[in-house]
Amino acid sequence: MNTNDRRSLQGKRILLIIGGGIAAYKSLDLIRRLRERGAEVRVVMTQAAQEFVTPLSAGAIAGGHVYVDLFDWRTEFDIGHIRLARDTNLVVVAPATADLMAKIAGGHADDIASTVLLAIDKPVLLAPAMNPHMWSNAATRRNLAQLVADGVTVVGPNAGEMAEQGEAGIGRMAEPLEIVAAVESRLAARHETAGSLSGRRVLVTAGPTHEAIDPVRYIANRSSGKQGFAIARAAAAAGADVTLVTGPVPLADPPAVTVIRVESAREMLAEVDRALPADVAVFAAAVADWRVAEPGAQKLKKGAGGTPKLDLVENPDILATVAHGKSKRPLLVIGFAAETEHVINNARAKLDRKGCDWIVANDVSPATGIMGGDRNSVHLVTRDGVESWPNEDKQTVADKLIARIAVTLAAAAK
Ligand code: C5P
Repeated sequence: MNTNDRRSLQGKRILLIIGGGIAAYKSLDLIRRLRERGAEVRVVMTQAAQEFVTPLSAGAIAGGHVYVDLFDWRTEFDIGHIRLARDTNLVVVAPATADLMAKIAGGHADDIASTVLLAIDKPVLLAPAMNPHMWSNAATRRNLAQLVADGVTVVGPNAGEMAEQGEAGIGRMAEPLEIVAAVESRLAARHETAGSLSGRRVLVTAGPTHEAIDPVRYIANRSSGKQGFAIARAAAAAGADVTLVTGPVPLADPPAVTVIRVESAREMLAEVDRALPADVAVFAAAVADWRVAEPGAQKLKKGAGGTPKLDLVENPDILATVAHGKSKRPLLVIGFAAETEHVINNARAKLDRKGCDWIVANDVSPATGIMGGDRNSVHLVTRDGVESWPNEDKQTVADKLIARIAVTLAAAAK
């Protein structure tokens, strides 16, 4: 660790929520590691957590009161659960048990931990820990998917031996230093952006498009919309006035974002045009390159005529249309490039062809698991060079991108 690292969390307020699992003992070390980097750590413990470690130990290491009761009049007068949520830069839930994850995903608020988590408008980092069967259970998978879609960041769990003899698999809580690294990465990206886009208009496209074949069938692609939604969420958190034009995806509207849902590329172009002017436009949508020239007015039938012949015509290129636009071109136009080979060279070529300012390029070859997944490895290709952000969760990629955008706009305004 160099000297810079030692104070990497100086001035930061971390709220640590300790859930009820055997890994809770590691959270005591986590408190120490966060504090030695300069963070002020406030601790909330669930009822179940107190079966594993005591508020006395956690409080002694944190150097302060530990919050365990929603209805404790002393702590409610002193700081209160809403202020606990407000006066913090980031919340860490460690260990995040299956039960706590279910409560957060479901929006429950029946104890101090879940209530604070429902009231929070700051980044949330979960360090799950549970038995491997609980981790792979369909309910936990569902909750995890919901939490990630809601912008929560996850570190771990790792593979290894469980506390129970003979049990092994994925479910061990990430080590305290891994959690600290995830906290640093999340905060570094978010810190630069707070309020940095206030007064700016940001337009984002996301998701796939659906191109009708007939009233029930369509051509689509595997885009999940997660990266575009994360960018819209990060831009709104940075204070921008954000419009998100998205193709069909089952994701909830991010807070404080105007969301316009469309089906086809042509509808997307019309809504993008309506949303302009903007200072920045980020085109994260995976727009279908082609559509069916003449979709059937009725459902196509199997029959004597053999297989139907689908004539395809090219869709408008939304990014290129906006980037080459004369009157309403945003100051900064950013495209995405999903490539399966020669990622950076193809991105450079795309920068010129499309007339945009930056390209965020990623390798979506099936082995990477990026398409539809929660993590991303991207390269930011500008006319000045390439910056690579390997293996980040999509929300952190979004925060980093917004931080770069804010710096660039500020420099342009000088
Ligand atoms: O040409 P390609 O599809 O690889 O380019 C990807 C970039 O162009 C993305 O930013 C995507 O949102 C945008 N695009 C678009 N309209 C299209 C095709 C792509 O805006 N018809």
